[in-house]
Amino acid sequence: MLFLSIALMYACSKNEDEITPEEKKISFTVPSNFPAPTYNFEDNELTNDGFALGKKLFYEARLSADKSVSCGSCHQQFAAFANLDHKVSHGVDNCQGKRNAPPLFNLAWQKAFFWDGGVKNLETSPLNAFTDACEMKTDLETVVSVLKNTAPYPELFRKAFGTPEINSQKILKSITQFMGVLVSGNSKYDQVMRKQNGVSFTSTELAGYNLFKEKCSSCHTEPLFTDFTYRSNGLDLVSVDEGRSHITGVKTDFGTFRIPTLRNIEYTGPYMHDGQFYSLDEVLEHYNSGVKASANLDPRLKNGIPLSSAEKEQIKSFLKTLTDNEFIKNKLFSES
Ligand code: HEC
Ligand code: HEC
Repeated sequence: MLFLSIALMYACSKNEDEITPEEKKISFTVPSNFPAPTYNFEDNELTNDGFALGKKLFYEARLSADKSVSCGSCHQQFAAFANLDHKVSHGVDNCQGKRNAPPLFNLAWQKAFFWDGGVKNLETSPLNAFTDACEMKTDLETVVSVLKNTAPYPELFRKAFGTPEINSQKILKSITQFMGVLVSGNSKYDQVMRKQNGVSFTSTELAGYNLFKEKCSSCHTEPLFTDFTYRSNGLDLVSVDEGRSHITGVKTDFGTFRIPTLRNIEYTGPYMHDGQFYSLDEVLEHYNSGVKASANLDPRLKNGIPLSSAEKEQIKSFLKTLTDNEFIKNKLFSES
């Protein structure tokens, strides 16, 4: 009897070892220093097959009008799912959009999406990308029919949802399973906050963190590094893009944009809604000397944020502690 249970234990642990990372049960994990998420998969049960289908669709260029552009073309993992080097996004026919592609992670904590908050639900957030003439330039009907006629999709839908029928709801739900699981919460900053394995800031990083708390965190609020409000940080005297007022119609929202997260900021450039800055040095110089008196400039920025060269270096070194290499290199999220 004793022998049998030991043998069983051995068999079980052996099985565990044989499971490759891809086969591990996909789960949505809330880092212990994060608040409760907004999206919790209640009406979209997270399964390995649902996630795998969503990931395949995310990287599927055959869904776009000229079969050249996938979600992953503009949302690249090595850029924390932002778009490296592109000021604004490039879609089919080399069309240039008007906004910079935001990084995709910790989306389950967002209550609204896009720079202007124009989309309210994570599950419907891919719709615009499919239909926008400057992104994938297609429509859901076409996407559904392409998938129906492309192996192995019918089989993958059957595995994920029990029936091979393909419809827009299943497409959106599976892509959401993939996007929702993109959680980035294991940067050096997180490890310091969680007092993990004796990880601590260097003195420069710590000085940067203290400056950050004093000068930046009222807008870029920890731990998500945004309070999700819409503000103008004085990029242009008169914004070309109306921003939040496009959605609300309210004049005081003109030229305001959602405060972006600063997690993985080292890799998500170019910066700002229009990608006008290529480096963190340019961003910091903007706050130091470049803030314009735009009509709806946030009052906290009316004198800019004066920073010495040493302070800029300190803030930059703190910002780099927000890089989560485990996330950026996680094979689970890669195309293959
Ligand atoms: C041509 C480039 C491009 C493609 C292709 C693209 N996106 Fe985007 N994505 C963008 C841009 C640009 C924005 C910001 C739009 C805005 O704010 O008006 C965005 C915003 C988003 C957001 C909101 C993020 C946030 O923080 O608010 C999500 C989610 C998203 N895209 C998912 C997808 C998915 C899923 C696909 C594939 C179905 C996709 N994208 C395809 C460029 C692209
Ligand atoms: C009054 C609120 C406010 C304060 C204070 C503030 N920011 Fe911002 N920040 C914003 C807004 C709003 C944007 C986006 C503006 C846009 O794209 O139109 C932004 C954008 C950024 C970006 C670009 C992010 C991206 O993904 O494109 C960086 C980097 C940044 N801020 C760093 C800082 C730092 C560092 C400080 C402190 C020195 C700071 N911010 C202080 C509101 C603020």
